[in-house]
Amino acid sequence: MRILGISAHYHDSAAALLVDGVPVCAVQEERLSRRKNDAAFPLAAIEWCLEAARLEPEQLDAVVFYEKPMLKFERILTMALRGFPRSWRSFPHAMKNTLGGKLWVKGIISSQLGVRASRILFTEHHQSHAATAFLTAPTRRAAILTADGVGEWATLSLGHGSVDEAGNVSLELLRELHFPHSLGMLYSTFTAYLGFPVNEGEYKVMGLASYGQPSFEASVRKMVRRTADGALALDLSYFEFHEGARRSFSDKLVAELGPPRDPLDPIDLDTPEGARYAAIAASVQRVLEDILVDLARSLRRETGLDDLCLGGGVALNGCANARILRESGFRNLYVPSAPGDAGCALGAALVADRLHFRQPHRAVPDHPYWGPEVDAQELARIAVEDGLELAQLPREDELIDRVAHELAQGRIVGWMQGRAELGPRALGNRSILAAPHGAEMREKLNRSIKYREEFRPFAPAVPAEHAERFFELPPGGTRLGRFMSGVFRVRPEWRERLAAVTHVDGTARVQTVERKMAPRFHALLEAYGAAAGIPVLLNTSFNLAGEPMVNRAVEGYSTFRRCGIDLLVAGNTVVGKRRAAQAAPEEAVA
Ligand SMILES: [Fe+2]
Repeated sequence: MRILGISAHYHDSAAALLVDGVPVCAVQEERLSRRKNDAAFPLAAIEWCLEAARLEPEQLDAVVFYEKPMLKFERILTMALRGFPRSWRSFPHAMKNTLGGKLWVKGIISSQLGVRASRILFTEHHQSHAATAFLTAPTRRAAILTADGVGEWATLSLGHGSVDEAGNVSLELLRELHFPHSLGMLYSTFTAYLGFPVNEGEYKVMGLASYGQPSFEASVRKMVRRTADGALALDLSYFEFHEGARRSFSDKLVAELGPPRDPLDPIDLDTPEGARYAAIAASVQRVLEDILVDLARSLRRETGLDDLCLGGGVALNGCANARILRESGFRNLYVPSAPGDAGCALGAALVADRLHFRQPHRAVPDHPYWGPEVDAQELARIAVEDGLELAQLPREDELIDRVAHELAQGRIVGWMQGRAELGPRALGNRSILAAPHGAEMREKLNRSIKYREEFRPFAPAVPAEHAERFFELPPGGTRLGRFMSGVFRVRPEWRERLAAVTHVDGTARVQTVERKMAPRFHALLEAYGAAAGIPVLLNTSFNLAGEPMVNRAVEGYSTFRRCGIDLLVAGNTVVGKRRAAQAAPEEAVA
């Protein structure tokens, strides 16, 4: 059975293809269209999926859209009517922006792909999130918690899933919270208040939170109240997002917290204003974490299960995830590599396969590498055309030694291997790598490549078996680090020698690399350890500020030429910045 999953029209469109119950490919549209967070109907992603699997659209048994457009329309209409007459001006705006082409999605899919309308299915948004989280995790019984801004109506769901001996899947929803009450919207509102772009700047709020004390916690708690049944409710007098206003927070919120930050003003943490922003970020982060831990704890009590699968954009909050793992009582916490809406393309396809067509469950390979493969020959061709020196090293040990040696010399390496990651994190296939030991490396990367705020830390990657030597991992922490989903403390004795990846509060968003999942990256970390003494590398996504992660060799090359990356590696091809004429091929990158 061949099922295509699609997520589109809100943020981060994607397509995923399932053949006989197992994912074959999945990619975000932005990686192909080269428009960051591309929300358009993912034609390029669909085309690539079908091409990679050598399928024609008419060979698909089903095309599944990741949410139900009519339900979403109902929500927007209802909210507009409730807010009438205040909201009447904003209604067309909300229709256009929030809904986009969604209502007509069946027609779009049918006409763009030439697929019969009867083969087009729809899943619910949070069901897609739940499926991505549960059905890709190596567990057969787990509690499931999903949280995001909003889908159709749901903003948070609690449930559990199971796979029986015969492979029958059940996903049972216990409770859900409805818009406008939403943890994702709460956090996004603060993201906007702090002057960062919503749906992208949430990482920045989390990074900034480490610089402050949660001295506004009481204020934030006034805005989000726990209800007697264990749920939560936003005090809507502090918010305006539900009325479709241009601003997501109200004057009352400004009266409580002070003026919002102008996005164009740089944050200077040494000023009282900068310190206030950090304290506000710390406060909303604290409240979010407390609520999530509490919800997870009661879900643990209610289900008695050991495993928890987390989905939805809120699951990208690594600090909250680490606290859930430590404090909720669950033994294992599974967060997929793409818990946000892009991953829903895969989740929607899985829902159709396991629940609609009742196909028996098949274990989903436990890795994030579902995107296009990098072509080492393509890089070789471009480098030769451009007259740059290159080396092709067919022997893997030679390649690994060469790159490890360069990294140990302080060089910055663009590292492209195999198939691209699904999700927002570079996990060793489209990464920029560097020595993590000195703070000056962080500054160098920020200055010459990433151009980002100082309060956004870089992440470390470490072989899973060495992780505990450097990081304080709770039980289950190595698993959470598999897709870089948890923030943990760096052991104090290593902080100085891991300065470029240790955040101001002594933590790091560590990737624990298993040999089985990423053998070449694992080998590189080991070789680097042998050369430099510590098997830890700084791993940041391979892109420039404002651009999507690189996908093909040509994009890696163009990025490499435009920034301070010293060495570019795609597959077994290694390119340095010197002209070919200046060196014999053998000493190309030494
Ligand atoms: Fe979502």
